Amino acid sequence: MALYSEKVMDHFRHPRNVGKIDDADGVGEVGNVVCGDIMRMYIKVKDNIITDVKFNTFGCGSAIATSSMATELIMGKSIDEALELTNKAVVEALGGLPSHKIHCSVLAEEAVRAAIVDYFEKNHIEYDREKYAPKEDCEHCHAHDE
Ligand code: FES
Repeated sequence: MALYSEKVMDHFRHPRNVGKIDDADGVGEVGNVVCGDIMRMYIKVKDNIITDVKFNTFGCGSAIATSSMATELIMGKSIDEALELTNKAVVEALGGLPSHKIHCSVLAEEAVRAAIVDYFEKNHIEYDREKYAPKEDCEHCHAHDE
């Protein structure tokens, strides 16, 4: 079996929603201390719906593919639905990832969440800080990189 699914290769070669939103309502930037990759996610929000999303990734092919898929999964969704996006759902939508690349999908989940948290902060919207506030460190990344 090929290491990467066709969907992963497709999103890696033709990533969707790459770029920047200048007047974004929320911007999230996350990095993985182990591999050094960085992902930045921009969202536009109207009436609690994500109306536009773009990303930039300075990272590996899986980081590009997972962030591309994550943007497709949250486009048009409500903030609450997007907050619940898990890296597992991203990996499933891509038809799987090799286990040593799972941490790249964690970055995509965290970037989406960080953008939404930034939107909450900028608009003084209450949210569950315990659950969603960005973590300084990511135990998944270490777990999967060791
Ligand atoms: Fe770091 Fe993929 S190797 S995000």
